[in-house]
Amino acid sequence: MSRVHPGLPANHATAAWALPLLLLLLLPPTSARPSAGPGYLRRGWLRLLTEGEDCGPCRPELCAAPRGCLAGQVRDACDCCWECANLEGQLCDLDPSTRFYGRCGEQLECRLDAGDDLHRGEVPEPWCACRSQSPLCGSDGRTYAQICRLQEAARARPDANLTVAHPGPCESEPKIVSQPRDIWNVTGQDVIFGCEVFAYPMASIEWKKDGWDVQLPGDDPHISVQFRGGPQRFEVTGWLQIQAVRSSDEGTYRCIARNALGWVEAPASLLVLTPDQLNSTGIPRLKSLNLVPEEAENEESYDYDFY
Ligand SMILES: *[C@@H]1O[C@H](CO)[C@@H](O)[C@H](O)[C@H]1NC(C)=O
Ligand SMILES: *[C@@H]1O[C@H](CO)[C@@H](O)[C@H](O)[C@H]1NC(C)=O
Ligand SMILES: *[C@@H]1O[C@H](CO)[C@@H](O)[C@H](O)[C@H]1NC(C)=O
Repeated sequence: MSRVHPGLPANHATAAWALPLLLLLLLPPTSARPSAGPGYLRRGWLRLLTEGEDCGPCRPELCAAPRGCLAGQVRDACDCCWECANLEGQLCDLDPSTRFYGRCGEQLECRLDAGDDLHRGEVPEPWCACRSQSPLCGSDGRTYAQICRLQEAARARPDANLTVAHPGPCESEPKIVSQPRDIWNVTGQDVIFGCEVFAYPMASIEWKKDGWDVQLPGDDPHISVQFRGGPQRFEVTGWLQIQAVRSSDEGTYRCIARNALGWVEAPASLLVLTPDQLNSTGIPRLKSLNLVPEEAENEESYDYDFY
């Protein structure tokens, strides 16, 4: 090992000139606040500050006990004290011999994300990713997207004794993720109702019109139904299309989703106006009925039962 100064490790000299520069880069000139940011990043900078100090003999009794480590604990850069491991999505050191960002927790691995959304010239950064992508059912009856989420939840609530009940989502009756919306239109136009359902085991969807006992489309040639798996895992989406609507199509339609554990339904109404009626009713009245879509319609997004 080459030494630039007796008694000092080589990297000490580097740190001596690099630090003021780093601090300048870190602190925006207008802000008096020290850089906040996630604890693990601050730890990285602290590590740079103390770099050059030898680890020295390990004295576990001097270690501060880390608390609230949601990804578990790992040994620090000196392999002495325990510190919080990095969570899914946090940066990490690809090279295990460097310890700037820190190590990923249990079930996580440090991966270089060469994602498509990198801008030109941007360097991909390594971050902690879960080794598994299989959903699990927790002992709390909730479905977790993968084991890392479940462990995070278990560490956040230690007294809940959260464990894996079984692989795969928890079995549950269907949930309507996106329900059909009330619509109106003028006679002769085509209308479509959509219904997105999450369930495990998978659900089947059927459509009915209030006052009619038959499952649609029945034998009605101007009505058609379609089903498709997705868009998310364990989901199915159904559509009901009515071509060239007539006044007699007016009414309430229901999306009914079933599986072995139960069923749910969501109603939506269809209002059909003749061109004359539209002229006399007018858009303002339809607005008061809440049937005219808002300008910037926020798509109903339902964060379904994955944690
Ligand atoms: C968790 O386990 C402990 C010890 O086995 C028990 O005392 C406690 O009641 C359990 N908590 C829950 C929420 O089941
Ligand atoms: C009526 O239907 C047409 C064709 O399907 C569609 O383009 C139009 O947006 C609908 N009008 C309303 C008010 O929903
Ligand atoms: C709507 O009403 C206006 C006058 O109130 C009339 O001039 C127009 O022709 C009507 N349009 C339709 C489609 O009936």
